[in-house]
Amino acid sequence: MSKKIIIVLIVIIILILIGITIFLMLNNNMEENIMLNTSNQNNSTQIENINKAGESDTTANAPVFNFETKTVKLNSGYEMPLNGIGTYSLTGDECYNSITSALNAGVRLIDTAYMYNNEEEIGRAIKDSNIPREEIFVITKIYPTQFNDPQSAIEMALEKLDIGYIDMMLLHHPGEGDVQAYKAMEEYVKQGLIHSIGLSNWYIEELEEFLPQVDTVPALIQNEIHPYYQEPEVVPYIQSKGIVMQDWYPFGGRGHTSELLNDETIVEIANNHNVTSAQVILRWNLQRGVVVIPCSSNPDHIKENTEIYHFELTDEEMKKMEALNRDEKHDWY
Ligand SMILES: NC(=O)c1ccc[n+]([C@@H]2O[C@H](COP(=O)([O-])OP(=O)(O)OC[C@H]3O[C@@H](n4cnc5c(N)ncnc54)[C@H](OP(=O)(O)O)[C@@H]3O)[C@@H](O)[C@H]2O)c1
Repeated sequence: MSKKIIIVLIVIIILILIGITIFLMLNNNMEENIMLNTSNQNNSTQIENINKAGESDTTANAPVFNFETKTVKLNSGYEMPLNGIGTYSLTGDECYNSITSALNAGVRLIDTAYMYNNEEEIGRAIKDSNIPREEIFVITKIYPTQFNDPQSAIEMALEKLDIGYIDMMLLHHPGEGDVQAYKAMEEYVKQGLIHSIGLSNWYIEELEEFLPQVDTVPALIQNEIHPYYQEPEVVPYIQSKGIVMQDWYPFGGRGHTSELLNDETIVEIANNHNVTSAQVILRWNLQRGVVVIPCSSNPDHIKENTEIYHFELTDEEMKKMEALNRDEKHDWY
């Protein structure tokens, strides 16, 4: 082999080696790039997930309404109906008859209180109905004047209702001794005589102070809520803690029902769905995750107030309802 040929061969080999090296280097870079991209993608997926979890954090604990069973599962593990009957201002025969009408119309949630002076009539109507006890959910409340001797208050409610146990007991308002009264209710939960406990007329500030002092997160908070007083901050705050929100005065309370039920916007939405204003207000509450306990002594109204599951407000209608808020409280507490 001539010297020239050997030199050419060496140059070719060197060129091939350089080529292979460059190829390997490029390939490595590409792989690194691919790995980098993939890991970036993974990171962004993780970030997305974190964001989603972060976003859902506010709603993650919110109680879920089951529109099939028409119930919500409380943080105590018990199921509670989404709609019921309130009994403020119903006493004697009027109360007994209203509860009987409600039970006949399929209502299974009843709200009472020591202050309403009607627990005996409610207990009697329940027992006379022959509906299995476990199908009915009874809420009662103890009043601040009873907080200094909560055991007697609870015993009295159990005795007056006389239905074995109380499904839900609330403290009616904040007041001196409320923590002690709540702790007494916690003891009755341990004995099975009260199933779930909660509060009424507690707002953000009151809750921030109260919750660190007790062991049991309330299962329910019952506050004034209607289209003119919507509590846009309080409702999600309470729900984010896994607590069910329930409204009192859904129609604004006596003296205000006519204005609310004749509100132009509400009437227009009612006409869209061929339902009444009362049904629109109740449905609006359910769609915001708020349980309803309208009060009525009129059997037709009682039945009408249960017929709120066959229609749904659109997002636009929900926004129109939201726009009615005036922060107009109709009672002092
Ligand atoms: N925790 C608390 O501090 C607190 C305070 C207030 C109330 N609450 C609870 O919340 C419940 C509801 O509040 P509320 O009774 O005072 O006020 P509300 O339910 O807003 O209004 C009751 C009024 O609405 C009328 N009504 C009911 N259904 C109707 C319908 N379909 N169409 C037209 N009118 C209708 C009733 O008249 P008719 O009888 O003629 O139907 C009654 O005059 C109370 O009963 C009580 O259980 C709790």
